[in-house]
Amino acid sequence: MLPDAQEVTSVQHWTDRLFSFRVTRPQSLRFRSGEFVMIGLLGDNGKPLLRAYSIASPSWDEELEFYSIKVPDGPLTSKLQHIQPGDQIILRPKPVGTLVLDALLPGKRLWFLATGTGIAPFASLMRDPETYEKYDQVIMMHTCREKAELEYGRQLVESLKDDPLIGEMVGDKLKYYPTTTREESERMGRITDNLASGKVFEDLGIPSMSAENDRAMVCGSMAFNIDVKAVLESFGLREGANSDPLEYVVEKAFVGDGI
Ligand code: FAD
Ligand code: A2P
Repeated sequence: MLPDAQEVTSVQHWTDRLFSFRVTRPQSLRFRSGEFVMIGLLGDNGKPLLRAYSIASPSWDEELEFYSIKVPDGPLTSKLQHIQPGDQIILRPKPVGTLVLDALLPGKRLWFLATGTGIAPFASLMRDPETYEKYDQVIMMHTCREKAELEYGRQLVESLKDDPLIGEMVGDKLKYYPTTTREESERMGRITDNLASGKVFEDLGIPSMSAENDRAMVCGSMAFNIDVKAVLESFGLREGANSDPLEYVVEKAFVGDGI
C-alpha cells in the first residue's frame, strides 16, 4: 500500500506523447478548479517520485482527472504512462495554484490561453458552474503543433453541450478556438499572433481585449507564458494573484525548457 494512495479508474491514450487518466478522490480533498497537486509513483529507490499536476476535473466531480505528457526518458512519466485501471498512484492532497477565479477582478469575458498540456487546469474550469456564473463569455484558445494533440480538449468541449450538470449553463457562452502551428488545419497560428493581429476577435465577432471587460488565465511553456504576458499587457491587462486580484494570472504548464 502506497502512502496517500489512490486507485486508477480509467486511462485513455490520445497520442504517443499524451494520455489522460482518472483516479479515486480522497474523501477529504477540497480544491478550487484550476489548482494543482503533487502526484507520482514509488521510485526505484522506494521513495515517492512526485511531480506537479493540474487537476483537470472540476471541483464537483467524484473522481480526479489528469492530462499528461509522456516524456520518453522522464523519471515519472516514463513509468506513469503504463498505469492501468486498478493500479495505485500517490496523490498528496494539498492543492495550490494561481489559476483560480478568485485571483481575477470581475469582468465580462474570460480567456483561457493554453498550449499543449496547459489545457489541463482549464479542463477543470470549463466544467465549473462558477465560471459561467461570473462571466458572459468564456473563450478557450488552445494551440498545439498538430491536430491530434488538440483532441482531448476538442472532445471535452464537445461533451459539455450535453452535460446534464452544466450543459445548460455553458449554452453558447463558451467559444472554443483551437489552432495548430505545424499541421494544416481549419484554424492556424500561435495564440500570441492571433491575439496581437486581432484575428481571433474578428473570427469570433467580439471587440478587442480591454482591461475593463477582459480577464485572462495563461498556462503553457515558459516561453509561451512570457510572450503572452507581453501581448496581454499591450491591451492594458495587469498580472494579479490570489492575494491581489487583477486582470490576468499565469501558471507554468511545466518547467525546464531551457529558459
Ligand atoms: P521531468 O524531469 O519532470 O521533465 C523532463 C522534461 O520534459 C522537462 O524538462 C520538459 O522539457 C519536458 N516536459 C515536462 N512536462 C511537460 C509537459 N507537460 N509538456 C511538455 N513538455 C514537458 N505535466 C502534465 O503532463 N500535466 C499537467 O497537468 C501538469 N501540470 C503541471 C503544473 C505545474 C504547476 C508544473 C510546475 C508542472 C506541471 N506539469 C504537468 C509537468 C510535470 O510536473 C512533470 O514535469 C511531467 O509530468 C514530466 O515528469 P517527468 O518526471 O517524466 O519528467
Ligand atoms: P510553434 O509550432 O510555432 O513553435 P511546444 O510543443 O514547442 O511546447 O509548442 C506547443 C505550441 O505552442 C506550438 O503550437 C508552438 O508553436 C506554440 N508556442 C511555443 N512557443 C511559443 C511562444 N513563445 N509563443 C506563442 N506560441 C508558442
